[in-house]
Amino acid sequence: MKYLNEINRRRTFAIISHPDAGKTTLTEKLLLFGGAIQTAGAVKSNKIKKHATSDFMEIERQRGISVATSVMSFEYQGILINLLDTPGHKDFAEDTYRTLTAVDSVILVVDSVNGVEDQTRRLMEVCRMRDTPVIVFINKMDRDGKNRFDLLEEIEKELNLHLHPMTWPINSGKEFKGVYNLHEKNLVLFTANTKGSDEDVVSINDLSEALLDQKVGDRDANILREDVELVDGVHGELDAEEYLKGKVAPVFFGSAVNNFGVKEMLDTFIRIAPTPRSRETSIRPVDVNEDKFSGFIFKIHANLDPKHRDRIAFLRVCSGKFERNKYFHHVRLDKEVRFSNPYTFLARDKDIIEAAYPGDVVGLFDTGNFKIGDTLTEGEDFYFTGIPSFSPEIFKEVVNKDPMKTKQLEKGLLQLTDEGVAQLFTQFGGNKKIIGCVGELQFEVIQYRLLQEYGASVEFRAQPFYKACWISSKDAKKLDDFTRFKSNNVATDKDGYLVYLAQSEWFLNTERTNNPDIEFHFTSEIHKN
Ligand code: G4P
Repeated sequence: MKYLNEINRRRTFAIISHPDAGKTTLTEKLLLFGGAIQTAGAVKSNKIKKHATSDFMEIERQRGISVATSVMSFEYQGILINLLDTPGHKDFAEDTYRTLTAVDSVILVVDSVNGVEDQTRRLMEVCRMRDTPVIVFINKMDRDGKNRFDLLEEIEKELNLHLHPMTWPINSGKEFKGVYNLHEKNLVLFTANTKGSDEDVVSINDLSEALLDQKVGDRDANILREDVELVDGVHGELDAEEYLKGKVAPVFFGSAVNNFGVKEMLDTFIRIAPTPRSRETSIRPVDVNEDKFSGFIFKIHANLDPKHRDRIAFLRVCSGKFERNKYFHHVRLDKEVRFSNPYTFLARDKDIIEAAYPGDVVGLFDTGNFKIGDTLTEGEDFYFTGIPSFSPEIFKEVVNKDPMKTKQLEKGLLQLTDEGVAQLFTQFGGNKKIIGCVGELQFEVIQYRLLQEYGASVEFRAQPFYKACWISSKDAKKLDDFTRFKSNNVATDKDGYLVYLAQSEWFLNTERTNNPDIEFHFTSEIHKN
């Protein structure tokens, strides 16, 4: 319990959203509150711009910039907040999924006009795997959005999440007048571009007060009264335990670009969001309060710029104290390692650090010693679990154009898959190497890097698969039979686990029905117990 104070003052989280819902804008407003940045616009460089989608080098250049802001640490009311950035571009969704394994909670931004979108759904699925506590921020209330009740119903239904409104909006679009804070019992009146501290807040304990009519007009005051009665009747007080279990999500309405409704959310966030939590490992749960250090690598960033060919491994501290120049145990390599230049990520710039505590993320310069999911300890042998690989969505066969470089190609493919750039499958009984990615851009990145870094020249041949499912069965014979009958669709992943490559949902459902003894999984634990 040596580090209890440090642990209790930390909150580590990520903001997730469908692109364009307002994640970058909200991030920036939170940083302004924390004093980590002084001017609006400072976080914009972090965003991969829409027009760059066809140019992966440009995207990489921007990702390079974004390393510095991969983790933004700032203090707010004595609480140290670590905000882990997630790439907005959908082709880098795997990076986002893995970052979610390193946070203790998330803020989900939903666009009030577009409601639940594709990426929102997928990200929430990943959160649900770990029962991550979620706070929802419904953004862009200054635009004519969906009806507030319909929107909540849509989110509840689509994301399979119970919502608990913490603030309630008065109209939307041009008529948007502000929100009523159901918890604080005050009215926050909307003015565009507030500075946060100078919000127009009116305390209204009893909604029947005439002051409400004066402030928002009779009609809207009455609508608000009816709405609040309904909302209070259904929801009552927020059950913090249910939020921490990931069952109930508090909801705030606001407008990030106008810095409206953000402070209400941040104040609640620091009050209820979880402190760094204990975590499961391959042999026992590791209590966050243990004195001995442990942590795991959840992301590796390789710089494509030939002038700065460095890799940075992102370590999440799970227990104890990480110290500069101290030897730690690299479990997979069974080797003692130390780091002379570990750095923390502050919004301003990179800083070398001496020590880090649970909840913190440390950047480690890496020359190829790390892969995703690696665990560091003070000597004990275990792996943190709950760091899955996700099924890719695009599959291509790797065609070696230069047989003289076969060895280099194999080495390159292994290293790139260690970094989590792509997944590699070998067709069962054959030698076909199939790469699976979440987005088309990764294939360009892989082709470029194999040539630049390993001298291997490749082409890709499209494969007609839509999902990879890891398969298992209690009946070894049935699994064996299935593997042989379906050998064209069965492959092994990099660690030798069996995978069924499905051409379509229909094929997958058919195989599931025909083979009830075989289990199909869309994710695979990197470290199996
Ligand atoms: P993202 O990171 O989730 O992709 O979204 P981002 O914050 O970049 O926001 C996407 C667009 O939505 C931006 O406009 C941003 O200004 C706008 N936006 C964010 N919050 C609000 C809001 O509360 N109300 C309204 N009306 N718009 C909002 P853009 O034109 O794409 O970019 P920019 O030129 O403003 O930077």
